[in-house]
Amino acid sequence: MSENAPLPLTSHVAKGLQGSARVPGDKSVSHRALMLGALAVGETTVEGLLEGEDVLATANAMRAMGATVERLESGIWRLWGRGVGGLSEPETVLDMGNAGTGMRLVMGLVASHPFTAFFTGDASLCKRPMRRVAEPLERMGARILARSGVRPPLAVVGTDAPLPIVYELPVASAQVKSAILLAGLNTPGTTSVIEPEPTRDHSERMLKHFGARVDVGPGPKGGRVVTLHGFPELTGRQLVVPADPSSAAFPTVAALIVPDSEVTLPEVGTNPLRFGLYETLKEMGADILLRNPRELSGEPVADLVIRSSRLKGVVVPPERAPSMIDEYPILAVAAAFAEGTTRMMGLRELKVKESDRLAAMAEGLTKAGVAVEVEGDDLIVHGKGRPKGGALIETNLDHRIAMSFLVLGLGSELPMRIDDGRAIATSFTGFVELMQGLGARIEGSCP
Ligand code: S3P
Repeated sequence: MSENAPLPLTSHVAKGLQGSARVPGDKSVSHRALMLGALAVGETTVEGLLEGEDVLATANAMRAMGATVERLESGIWRLWGRGVGGLSEPETVLDMGNAGTGMRLVMGLVASHPFTAFFTGDASLCKRPMRRVAEPLERMGARILARSGVRPPLAVVGTDAPLPIVYELPVASAQVKSAILLAGLNTPGTTSVIEPEPTRDHSERMLKHFGARVDVGPGPKGGRVVTLHGFPELTGRQLVVPADPSSAAFPTVAALIVPDSEVTLPEVGTNPLRFGLYETLKEMGADILLRNPRELSGEPVADLVIRSSRLKGVVVPPERAPSMIDEYPILAVAAAFAEGTTRMMGLRELKVKESDRLAAMAEGLTKAGVAVEVEGDDLIVHGKGRPKGGALIETNLDHRIAMSFLVLGLGSELPMRIDDGRAIATSFTGFVELMQGLGARIEGSCP
């Protein structure tokens, strides 16, 4: 984290939010752009790269393994890759900061190179489970040495003779799928991942964009089988990163709950495997328009126009979870402003994110005067139109918990305070200024 001292922030009830703002680049796409640019032959340029701490950690890791990675100007980066299989052993420990995606995907890259890399991260990342990625990478021939519970710090001892595998994911995880596919790049034959439910397909789309052969077909029980053909020739590309739908979620919900708002968010990624929140908000009665749909570097985008809306409670089925897994905290805030009960089902994976988000939302909303229940893996929020607010929230290094409760304070009766907003800079650079620019009242220095 960039600053050592905690950064308390307070949000106050806002008048109507108005205006247009581009939220920063998509975090998932930015990580992958740096990784594939580092493996491609020739020059790759990336426009709109998220310059959050998570992605900067990935840029450093790619440099440490021999790629040329340069920042030309704000959001514009140039890479010279090493070719598939051309990464070299890093001389120092790779510090992935707060980033689960960065760590898991780079572990995949290292697994099929004949060297050892050491990984660490912040206090949040060092609690997160890595067995889910260690297990398939070990089947491919790598060895993973880690702390108890397969938690970081850890070392990946890559192999010089990787084996192609067919791997059925035990949990729906794009990170695990992507780690295996990235390991499969420097592996002979074909590497296949069977997913029980489709998860975000940015890796598949971008691998194809760089020239790899990836076949996607139907899998058992409604899922998918993704097959990568090893040793592709990846060629440098020009990429434009869409605005992040997971970041856009915060000004979207803010505009919905603050009366007299109309906000435009240009160029937001609308990949259907990321768009579950917006589908759910529309079911709740949200006025969200998708204008000017188009494509950017193989990803669909549109300009979102959001107007204040009266929301009603809904049931969110468990099979929607992979398409909105990072958005449940902010959906729970929207649900607190709705009339009636919202039941969000099948949220087990929320417990192993940057913090235990299921517990964090239940506790925080309760403190803010909202009636909440947790039943097994379901979160149930009883909305009553306008919560009381007036609470101090511990964010536990979790950017999305921090932003969710700040948004709540823009519409609640009393201000909301968070103990530390520093983690916001991992995914949403300039969050406070962007929200202030739309008319939000958030006090404190900007992360
Ligand atoms: C991501 C996948 C998701 C998501 C994370 C980003 C990715 O994690 O929560 O923020 O870029 O692949 P899981 O794969 O653990 O569900």
